[in-house]
Amino acid sequence: MPLITILPSAVADQIAAGEVVERPSSVVKELVENSLDAGASVIEVTLDDGGRKLVRVSDDGSGMSAEDLPLALARHGTSKITKAADLVGVGTFGFRGEALPAIASVSHFQIDTAPANGEGTSIRVLGGKISLPERVTRRRGTTVSVANLFFNIPARLKFLRSARSEWRGAVESITALAITKPAVRINVVHDGRNALTLPPVSSVRSRLGALWGGRYAEDLLDVEDVAGPIHVSGLVQRPADVGTSTRRAFLSINGRAVRDAGIARAVETAYRSTIIAGLRPSFFLNVTIPVDAVDVNVHPAKAEVRFRDRWTLERAVETAVRRSLGNFDAGASFGFRGAGFSPAVFQPSPNPGPEILQPVSYRSSPLFEGAGDPYSSAVSRSSTATEELQPPLTVPPLFQLRRTYIAFEHEDGIVLIDQHSAHERVLYEEFMNTLESGSAPAQRLLLPLTLHLGPAEGEAFDANRDYLERLGFEVEGFGGHTLIVNTVPMPHPRFDAERCLRETLDALTGDRVAGTAAKHERLASTVACKAAIKAGEELSQGEMRALFAALRDTRLPAHDVHGRSTIVHLTWDEVERRFGRR
Ligand SMILES: Nc1ncnc2c1ncn2[C@@H]1O[C@H](COP(=O)(O)OP(=O)(O)OP(=O)(O)O)[C@@H](O)[C@H]1O
Ligand SMILES: [Mg+2]
Repeated sequence: MPLITILPSAVADQIAAGEVVERPSSVVKELVENSLDAGASVIEVTLDDGGRKLVRVSDDGSGMSAEDLPLALARHGTSKITKAADLVGVGTFGFRGEALPAIASVSHFQIDTAPANGEGTSIRVLGGKISLPERVTRRRGTTVSVANLFFNIPARLKFLRSARSEWRGAVESITALAITKPAVRINVVHDGRNALTLPPVSSVRSRLGALWGGRYAEDLLDVEDVAGPIHVSGLVQRPADVGTSTRRAFLSINGRAVRDAGIARAVETAYRSTIIAGLRPSFFLNVTIPVDAVDVNVHPAKAEVRFRDRWTLERAVETAVRRSLGNFDAGASFGFRGAGFSPAVFQPSPNPGPEILQPVSYRSSPLFEGAGDPYSSAVSRSSTATEELQPPLTVPPLFQLRRTYIAFEHEDGIVLIDQHSAHERVLYEEFMNTLESGSAPAQRLLLPLTLHLGPAEGEAFDANRDYLERLGFEVEGFGGHTLIVNTVPMPHPRFDAERCLRETLDALTGDRVAGTAAKHERLASTVACKAAIKAGEELSQGEMRALFAALRDTRLPAHDVHGRSTIVHLTWDEVERRFGRR
């Protein structure tokens, strides 16, 4: 007698169920995906006891004929592909023909379906045993009920978590699909109560609003970028908001919701220098790539995909997110943002009396150059050839408040700039540039500075000497922990070089940053922080203007280097609301 037998299909289905159906949320996912694949515009999901007692999904999709229904319940029964080649670029969520038989093999299962209003068919399956089809009258669409999941697999049943936690899982599955298909109405009832009502909407932003509130959705930044055949679109969190609410990460590839740690890391990389290291931003992104650049058939629950060129894809995502963070209105807002703070505040404003100022290139000329009014020097530079490429900048009247903030009026509201944070951003980008290519302008001191360092500071100096020299600290005669400093950077006239160098070395003490890029970032942000003008320093009109112009030229003007905003907006909307004018 042979030792090998072919397993009966009911057993094979149960084994398949082990991979496809892990818990109630997997049932929810498979059934809702089927409804979406069937072109439903309304989907009703009913759960009892977190889905442990019942998961029912009803749709108004294509339905199935009496002839098709038994095939749908057979292993490998699918209408979505007919040959292996169809897997490339498959546009439906399903493609294996496995979900229904697998689910039916481990539950009390019933499916009612009709391809048109009126005549329909119903089949029950009890732990894999299929009943004869019955005729029923119903409207077009399909209803699948899955009761008592894992009733015949005690080992699995034991692993189910509390109703609450299964419910959370189910909501997560529904949410991910709801975000990928905002135009579909989805209603969820849990234990007889309406738990989630998602009306059909035309944008992902509106769907997020229905899920987590209008304010949450309003505050997200748009992402929209094309790199060759890769198109990245969606929404991400403002750096100033990162860490203030639950972190939510949603990614779809060609409309298929998936998890991908690499892309999540690429998004995080894009936030570098705008948020505190370690915080994780929320994102809702869809990436469209050529269908033959991705393999969807690599994960039992279809939750992951494989990419032909992961590196290029991750860089495209990083660049797209980085660009959206670079918009000037990516800073924080206080109060309700209203219909959207759309025009960047550096765009010309209709206020009376603005003067036209050519942008100052802070790279070629340090901010606050000389002790006089840098505004005049900015104007005199305005005719140089290199700067004519840039659009002229309209500078509205600027006011210094509490010797800390620069305020101005704009078409959409009032804008406040934190002078220290803003200058820090300007210097950070300048120093990064310097560290990556060349050296900064420095001023030679008439009387060299002499600094006596402790052993730890001395070590920090040794480790960073090259970088510090490139930033303009030219030092000689280092020995016995004494530094002679001949030149220093000159970021502004009140710059205290000795204090900056001491504080920088202090901050770098015991630092174990590895890698050149990370070292550059660390040093640039530390020196920028120490060298920037401080809160409490009075600025002249010219200085404010120069800072304004230099900030405008940075890549990420709205964020300092510690995860704070450099800019906040108070919209007229909010002002009017507070004064009861709306
Ligand atoms: N809600 C529905 N409306 C209409 N047809 C459906 C519905 N659910 C399932 N079907 C039909 O039954 C078939 C089998 O469904 P099943 O979920 O088992 O496999 P699949 O979706 O093709 O692939 P996968 O196993 O990857 O989900 C589908 O291909 C589809 O033709
Ligand atoms: Mg399916």
